[in-house]
Amino acid sequence: MKVGVIGSGTMGHGIAEVVAIKKHSVVLIDVDWKFLNNAKEKIYNSLTKLAQKGEIKDTPEEVMERIKLTLDYKELADAELIIEAVPEKIEIKSDVFKKVDSIINNDTILASNTSSIPISSIAEFTSRKENVIGLHFFNPPPLMKLVEVVPSKFTSEEVVRRSVNIVSELGKVPVKLRIEVPGFVSNRIFLRLLQEGCREVENGEMRVEELDSMLRHKVKLPMGIFELADYTGIDVIVDIWNVIVSGGADDVPCSLYREKIARGELGVKSGKGFYVYPAPGKFVKPELVPTSKGEPARFISLAVNEAAWLVANYIVSKDDIDTVMKLGFNFPKGLFEMGNEFGFKSIIDNLVDIYTRGYSAYKPNEYLYNLVKD
Ligand code: 3HC
Repeated sequence: MKVGVIGSGTMGHGIAEVVAIKKHSVVLIDVDWKFLNNAKEKIYNSLTKLAQKGEIKDTPEEVMERIKLTLDYKELADAELIIEAVPEKIEIKSDVFKKVDSIINNDTILASNTSSIPISSIAEFTSRKENVIGLHFFNPPPLMKLVEVVPSKFTSEEVVRRSVNIVSELGKVPVKLRIEVPGFVSNRIFLRLLQEGCREVENGEMRVEELDSMLRHKVKLPMGIFELADYTGIDVIVDIWNVIVSGGADDVPCSLYREKIARGELGVKSGKGFYVYPAPGKFVKPELVPTSKGEPARFISLAVNEAAWLVANYIVSKDDIDTVMKLGFNFPKGLFEMGNEFGFKSIIDNLVDIYTRGYSAYKPNEYLYNLVKD
């Protein structure tokens, strides 16, 4: 299979690597050779790590040979699948999809890895809306197993079916949404965790490092929520936030993330966010002193409430939610599994407590009461 990847940044270069590891040929496109050369180096370094750990059979050189770097869109002409991973600006997406639309075959799947722009809006830039779909990978793509498959209201059943098959063939686990919702499943839940983190810090319940330490040491998450915000990019998070809230979700007052952006502290990419990194783009795990402060059930309550909304609206199943958290965020357990462990009664009690302090987003979803009855 020939796959085109447009945009060679954090996600694009990782996606190209994943495809090439599975022995497919990749055309990786960007607007400047400086981005492509940087991507080449990052792919090579990542492949070297994977090869050293025996996680890939081919040598890094053999995998690299399957990736063609170019500035020329004509190279995409006979691709079976094209995955766009350019910056989250609607004008850039529009440009890319219009260009691609004029080059490709009728049955090429046009996928976007966007985390915040509606797939149906992107589809409108093309003359084949039924071929456009969201394939949402997770950072870092070579290590994260999940891909959300997001059909827009225009996507054909055939394109959905082929996309699910391709994702599995790439060695990833697809979770298909019934229909797209702003932020999809993963980022709606991620946003709720970020909001509760912010609420606890701004209300003086926890400090940034304390909450992250609790999440790493007590809940056994791979990263604390502020560490993950830094890793993802605080600007990316605010884009996701805006799209979900303007899509109708109740907001939670919080200024922490926007203040960081105003100071140019975007996380790992700028060398500083909630933590300080050795250089822009260089991630080193923050040291966190273990603490026993903090309540895991309280921290996940808003996210569990969001998950309940997604299940109650038949966007995905309960099991899908757990898969998203375990394979998209490397949680040791899914949200419903954690809810079972802590007790849904305790989740509801926390929600009610925060709701009665004036936070409307925390109003418990009916579905949670059913879980308690069950
Ligand atoms: N390729 C190959 N190896 C990599 C790698 C890559 N791209 N990135 C990290 N590694 C390796 C490191 O080099 C290190 O190897 P070593 O043990 O031999 O030194 C190993 O992975 C572990 O890395 P670290 O010690 O730096 O840090 P961690 O132990 O915390 O692991 C992590 C890093 C796998 C990223 C882990 O922290 C994790 O799973 N974090 C959660 C990530 C997550 O939630 N991603 C989703 C974000 S949301 C998203 O993407 C959606 C979007 O729309 C916003």
